[in-house]
Amino acid sequence: MVNLAVQIGSLTLKNPVVAASGTFGFGREMQQWNDLSQLGAISSKGLTLNPRLGNDPPRVAETSGGLLNSVGLQNPGLQAFLATELPFMKSLGTTIIANIAGHSLEENVAMAEQLDATDVDGIELNLSCPNVSKGCMAFGSSAPMIEEVVRAVRAQTTKPLWVKLTPNVTSIADMALAAEAAGADAVSLINTLLGLAIDRKSRRPVLRNNTGGLSGPAVKPVALRMVWDVYRAVRIPIIGMGGIMNGEDAIEFMLAGASAIQVGTANLIRPTACQDVVTQMNLIAQSENMSRLSEYTGLMQPW
Ligand SMILES: Cc1cc2nc3c(=O)[nH]c(=O)nc-3n(C[C@H](O)[C@H](O)[C@H](O)COP(=O)(O)O)c2cc1C
Repeated sequence: MVNLAVQIGSLTLKNPVVAASGTFGFGREMQQWNDLSQLGAISSKGLTLNPRLGNDPPRVAETSGGLLNSVGLQNPGLQAFLATELPFMKSLGTTIIANIAGHSLEENVAMAEQLDATDVDGIELNLSCPNVSKGCMAFGSSAPMIEEVVRAVRAQTTKPLWVKLTPNVTSIADMALAAEAAGADAVSLINTLLGLAIDRKSRRPVLRNNTGGLSGPAVKPVALRMVWDVYRAVRIPIIGMGGIMNGEDAIEFMLAGASAIQVGTANLIRPTACQDVVTQMNLIAQSENMSRLSEYTGLMQPW
């Protein structure tokens, strides 16, 4: 028997597999293919104070080994989340994380304050969405701004606080250090890499937003390198993601230093991906005589 549980600060996840924000909705559609109680956690679609329709279509485009999206934070708004989605999610028997993506410091603070009064298990502060004109990635690409926003959000909540970082920076380790200094309990990385797809015949971008965020297997080596960079810089746990398609990929992220992992784009290809990754990680650990999945964290031996 392998012990699958992992510890992220004060939060115990039953296993390291978290459904990544924006690829799992609020779990409603995914429950027809999955026993969602088998997942380590679900991170909600990115929330804003007011409902958002997101960007105009087309807003997804397939690329070689990846997906480019510019959904633009379509969501029902915090009040609808609290009234309808959170009670449903809390009934699923897994850890529920609210992913918040305010367009200003004040909006993030207001959402954190309201979430603090609920039974949500944790908050993932998204400082990394590349598809909106205000907030998000604009905060997440400056270490002083990360520190300011995280400190302000931290002051409003005692809930576990994960800060989600963008890869669209020169040094993601510096961004993680800023989040840690401001009181984050964990960092999650990576969000999507800013990209562009062009339709040669019309000579226009494929996405109506022009640019979008790249995810899926194409980004995995970049994500692994960033997890390793951050692992050597901070002491707080890392939730690693970017192109995880199976249990082997997930174990690689743990070897690089992640304490837990998230599965995103894979859900859009195979809706049972999260559950499959749990099963596969368990089998790999068994075959390698590991008694706990948490033992994999940071085991990579660099040359
Ligand atoms: C369609 C789509 C929507 C996403 N929406 C969000 C979001 O609302 N909030 C967020 O923090 N990340 C969002 N992401 C980023 C993912 O959570 C994840 O960080 C990224 O896709 C890398 O992981 P992957 O390669 O496994 O998909 C979205 C990704 C995709 C593909």
